[in-house]
Amino acid sequence: MELSIEKALNQKFASIFEQLGLDTKFATVKVSDRPDLSDFQCNGALALAKPLRRNPREIAQEIASRLEQDNDIEKVSIDGPGFINVTLKNEFIASVLDNMAADERFGVAKTARPKKIVIDSGGPNVAKALHVGHLRSAVIGEAIRRIEKFAGNEVISDVHLGDWGTPMGMILAEIINQDGSLAKTETYNIDEISAFYKKANIRCKEDENAKEKARLITAELQDGNPEYRKAWQHLRKVSVEAIKKNYDVLEAEFDLWLGESDAHDASAEVVRIAREKGVAEMDDGALIIRLEEGNKPKPPVILIKSDGGFGYQITDIATIKMRAEDLKAEEIIYVVDKRQSLHFEQVFEAAGKLGIAPGVTMKHIGFGTVNGKDGKPFKTRDGGVMNLEDLINLSKDKVRESMPKPGEVEGYDADYIEKLVGEIAVGAIKFQDLKNTISAGYIFELDDFAKFDGKTGPYIQYAIARINSILRKAAENGIAPGKIIISNAEERELLLKISQLGNVIARAHEDKEPSIISDYAYTLAQTFSSFYNAAPIMSEKDKTLAASRLKTAKMTKDVLTLLLYLLGIKAPEVMLKAAN
Ligand code: ARG
Repeated sequence: MELSIEKALNQKFASIFEQLGLDTKFATVKVSDRPDLSDFQCNGALALAKPLRRNPREIAQEIASRLEQDNDIEKVSIDGPGFINVTLKNEFIASVLDNMAADERFGVAKTARPKKIVIDSGGPNVAKALHVGHLRSAVIGEAIRRIEKFAGNEVISDVHLGDWGTPMGMILAEIINQDGSLAKTETYNIDEISAFYKKANIRCKEDENAKEKARLITAELQDGNPEYRKAWQHLRKVSVEAIKKNYDVLEAEFDLWLGESDAHDASAEVVRIAREKGVAEMDDGALIIRLEEGNKPKPPVILIKSDGGFGYQITDIATIKMRAEDLKAEEIIYVVDKRQSLHFEQVFEAAGKLGIAPGVTMKHIGFGTVNGKDGKPFKTRDGGVMNLEDLINLSKDKVRESMPKPGEVEGYDADYIEKLVGEIAVGAIKFQDLKNTISAGYIFELDDFAKFDGKTGPYIQYAIARINSILRKAAENGIAPGKIIISNAEERELLLKISQLGNVIARAHEDKEPSIISDYAYTLAQTFSSFYNAAPIMSEKDKTLAASRLKTAKMTKDVLTLLLYLLGIKAPEVMLKAAN
């Protein structure tokens, strides 16, 4: 049973190439560059011409004359220097699409060799409110988590909480400063703890002594001072609760809530291994690993700081060891700001030298910043850092503007509308993020990102809701989805577009680039609009045509829903609001 037009065509080409004694490596098709002239094209004859010292058009002609005998093919033409252009029979397209519709994965294949992947994303810090800088890691991380899972891999997402650095000592020092002791620590909530951190930050910037004290407390905390550990446990717990709430709203799921602190013992292990292998050396009181100077010299990795403590780098190295040994990870993907790329290059290279994660692939997916109109990191109106929660509320306010008030639409109460507002608002934020390539930064577009038209999350959600409404009306009129029959150009175009699904997901997976999915979702929703305008369902007299179109519509909806799911975006049943 054919589940992919492209695969079927590739097979047809491969067998012809084989019959003709041509290298099948070149027997691949791609979607035509000129959709007005053909559906697919194969450029293999051009690639073969040189090594075979033959005229490419002549090779193309040989291939074409065999293709012409294929019942699934309507037309073959040779264009330009030797492009083979193929137009498919409508019946062939329809039958593959019928098969896709019947398959719960729409024929999208799983990876041949599933792997165990750890995704390190989120990266929030204890006692600091999540801000707009944390948005991308959670949003991209979640999309990649879902894409990897859908591909058939086993995925473990780990939030890798920043809970072990000097900020911890700073907060404890500040509480002692104000209270005289840590006795009251366990009564403090997240706002109070954040306030301590803010004050500590100012104090440590102004006062060297305060900084030194914070540093000592951090070292003692790491060494296991029971009083500090107890107070710190509370800071961590309260922060995690607050962070979880934020991530729940964003629908970012984490399997593990481990932090830098959890790598403490493994860090000591790393030091032992480094000494044993002789890869570390003392430098100015610190224990370091020098990295290959090569053509791109890198600063050394610091295992133990000159004050005796563990820092950010060894913590990441030790975490790699744990992920390889305890979690049996085969791949680790870091979704972290691209300004940290040197850090990851250093850490990966050090891990290699230490031999702590043999065979584990490590990738840093570095993202660009979310900027304001001035091109600088997005700020609040008064120039402060934009909290993630405030950003979500801002988006909700925007969406609420175009929503009916409770009581205005029968059957939908205030709770329902508010839930819908949340799903649309978060969908808008996430889509705005994921429609950009990861490494590029983007400007947070305050005016248009939540609109129901244009390249936005709500536009795709709206397309789905519109099809839901078509499906409801069809059911009322006794129309059920039936076998696909192509009866006009728009329908043909839409079906061919849907048939690209597998390829799109494979590319997004391969490149770890969710924007490939958001681009496709957008064009698919647009293509559906043209189809529905040209091929009405309810008013169609021919019942078999109506049933076919209904099936195409339903499939579009199911595919769009899957695409939004992979991006981590909800698809509400109704939108309660017409597009502008
Ligand atoms: N907490 C870090 C920060 O705020 C990000 C952590 C990223 N993950 C990692 N494994 N280093 O910069």
